[in-house]
Amino acid sequence: MNLHPQEVVSSFEVQYIADVLARLKSQLVEEHPSGTMPRDAHPKMHGLVEAEFVIHDDLPDDYKIGVFSQVKTFKAGVRFSNANGAAQPDLKRDIRGIALKLKQVVGEKLTDEPDCFENQDFLLISTDSFLCDGIQTFDGMVKAIQGSLWQKLGFFVTHPSVVWKLVTSFKVFANPLQIRYFSCTPYLLGNHAVKYCLTPVIQTCDFVPPEPADNFLRLAMKQQLLNAPAEFVFGIQRQANPNTMPIEDASVLWKETQSPFMPVATLRIPMQNFDTHERNQLGENMRFSPWHSLTVHRPLGSINRARRIVYHSISELRRRVNGVG
Ligand code: HEM
Repeated sequence: MNLHPQEVVSSFEVQYIADVLARLKSQLVEEHPSGTMPRDAHPKMHGLVEAEFVIHDDLPDDYKIGVFSQVKTFKAGVRFSNANGAAQPDLKRDIRGIALKLKQVVGEKLTDEPDCFENQDFLLISTDSFLCDGIQTFDGMVKAIQGSLWQKLGFFVTHPSVVWKLVTSFKVFANPLQIRYFSCTPYLLGNHAVKYCLTPVIQTCDFVPPEPADNFLRLAMKQQLLNAPAEFVFGIQRQANPNTMPIEDASVLWKETQSPFMPVATLRIPMQNFDTHERNQLGENMRFSPWHSLTVHRPLGSINRARRIVYHSISELRRRVNGVG
């Protein structure tokens, strides 16, 4: 695999990735010695919905790459989630996630996993830049979270920017169909580095109910989709300057004033009742990864390189334990 000219791989990267993986795995095994093993991150699902990903017909030629190369409508499965490793009430501040799986995508892929081979996945979260710059800091954060009070203090005192991100990215929302989501990490689009975002098209805006149920985000989505469809615009932001919009620092926000998101597709979620046993089961058992991807949309940067190994290995583990696939 050729690196992008701005990708830099440190000689310790492989060790950081192995350490993160070992820590996440042992935590999962320790916390779930029997019964169903959930995802390590984003275990609480609000719903798996059926959707369509409609490529716009007015794209400039240099955006017509990969899934965006032709005017086409892809069928998609879309999973909404809370990020926290424990399934907690939705009123707790958290980062929220959306994972798209486009079906029947033809072209050269980065994975040969048989259950993902025909897919293009896009994973986005409700904050516009990541908590950590790279995998070394992420490994330090995982170590600190799992470690003693002194280890926690040691890490967070020396990484005030991570503390700031934790404070500002964890939020309460009223309805997962009505918020913006961002890829945070960059991806290839031909020769360009790009980031993605999903912006909701909102007619009416929900508020957090006065006495919310623990799963009020699922209930808000259900209520909306039983009565009306939902829509998001998928945007692509091209890197305009490698210094202010770096590839190897996922904590830096690529400013929209410097390079706006170009609308390239519409995610249409038709009216439906997604809250069925069958759909919920499917959502639990599916696996998403930014590396379930066409080669022309390859994930970039150390956080993404780590995700290649971590998502594959953790999803294999939980699916093996749960007797799936
Ligand atoms: C080194 C950094 C990261 C690590 C180690 C990590 C780890 C994980 C793991 C282990 C899962 C569960 C995989 C499974 O069992 O199927 C997951 C899910 C997820 N991650 Fe990450 N993650 C990282 C960074 C990110 C970033 C930057 C985003 C931003 C978009 C993100 C978004 C998501 C989403 C949306 C899901 C839920 C997917 C689903 O619905 O199944 N993660 N992550």
